[in-house]
Amino acid sequence: MKILGIEHIAIATEDLQRAALFWREVLGIEHRAGEEVESEGVLTNIFDTGKGKVELLSELGEGSPITKFLDKRGPGIHHICLEVDNIKEAICELKNVDVELINDTSKIGAEGHRIVFIHPRSTGGVLVELAEKPGSDET
Ligand code: CO
Repeated sequence: MKILGIEHIAIATEDLQRAALFWREVLGIEHRAGEEVESEGVLTNIFDTGKGKVELLSELGEGSPITKFLDKRGPGIHHICLEVDNIKEAICELKNVDVELINDTSKIGAEGHRIVFIHPRSTGGVLVELAEKPGSDET
């Protein structure tokens, strides 16, 4: 597995629009996309610094993991995402060394990335997402 860099840092918010004001108006970071990711139960608002993104998250629908997170820990950093060259390979390698994954196989997340989450118990306390960008395994 090769880690290609930090893709984004995700922040759980109670009020997406209000939080977005800070990132867009105060810091002046380009707003790149807003997306409903139903598979994850999240609404996203993505800001791109050009050297790593900030992804604001809020709850979407009943039983959203964001609702659970906010209830338990309040607003704040929800996960960090590392870009990998090959997610299948990464999953295999992690399983081989008994790292605890949230889901067994990759799924499609925001921006069409192929993603998997690693449990905070295995990472030093923060949820870690691995993401392979679309098309990166087609060469
Ligand atoms: Co993410």
